[in-house]
Amino acid sequence: MRVIIQRDYLRTCLWAAKYIADRINEHENGPEKDRPFVLGLPTGSSPLGVYRELIRMNHDGELSFKNVVTFNMDEYMGLTREDPHSYWHFMHENLFDRLTDIKPENINILDGMAEDPEKECEEYEKKIASYGGIDLFLGGIGVDGHLAFNEPFTSLRSRTGIRKLTTNTKVANSRFFDNDISKVPSSALSVGVATVTDSKEVLILIHGHNKARALAESVEGAITSKWTCSVLQMHNGAIIACDEAACGELTVDTYKYFLDAEREERL
Ligand code: GLP
Repeated sequence: MRVIIQRDYLRTCLWAAKYIADRINEHENGPEKDRPFVLGLPTGSSPLGVYRELIRMNHDGELSFKNVVTFNMDEYMGLTREDPHSYWHFMHENLFDRLTDIKPENINILDGMAEDPEKECEEYEKKIASYGGIDLFLGGIGVDGHLAFNEPFTSLRSRTGIRKLTTNTKVANSRFFDNDISKVPSSALSVGVATVTDSKEVLILIHGHNKARALAESVEGAITSKWTCSVLQMHNGAIIACDEAACGELTVDTYKYFLDAEREERL
């Protein structure tokens, strides 16, 4: 596992956006350019700075999404696409509608209104497989370490399916629902932990003091479904990009180790 520690949120986002752009551009110039680059994407406040930078690069001609297929991590159940709280809406408002050349047919987001949600999830897994899997999955984590909506004690082998949200997550996400927890849906469709870890690379963004415990559990803790993010320790291509504030619970040794090992990445 790599841990890239940057001074602040902005630098973390700039680093992550460049990493993603480099991967896409390398793919475009590499032997596999005839197949699309498959990118997994999250919602939340963590990726917003990354999305802003990807949009800038796209407008400045540094990055094209023509040959990129995206799969989003999750979607609330019971919200229509048009609902301003849906992740479909979030993604279009903060990324897709602002890119010059992404093809709408290349955007995949689970349908929280699907008549048969289980089938919807099965089809999603099949569609990911039809592209040969995900090249790079960008993600964030919850304060309790959840990856996508894989709450504590979700199997580390889980696949895309229906998830019940914990009260903690509903409280955390109520900030997007006028701070009214009763408005937060109680369930969601979400890729599984194994859907994420099957990706060739996983890049997780962790910012702020309130994620410090989750970061420490991800990097130094035991591998346990209590902290689904700890599964990253088993992944060959896992990177955590974090800010200083999120490092508060790391041991000094670990903090120093990664600062030194990744000193060339420091912005
Ligand atoms: C939600 C999403 C997660 C996301 C998490 C953290 O629960 N389902 O995918 O990682 O929020 O969000 P934020 O980045 O706003 O802290």
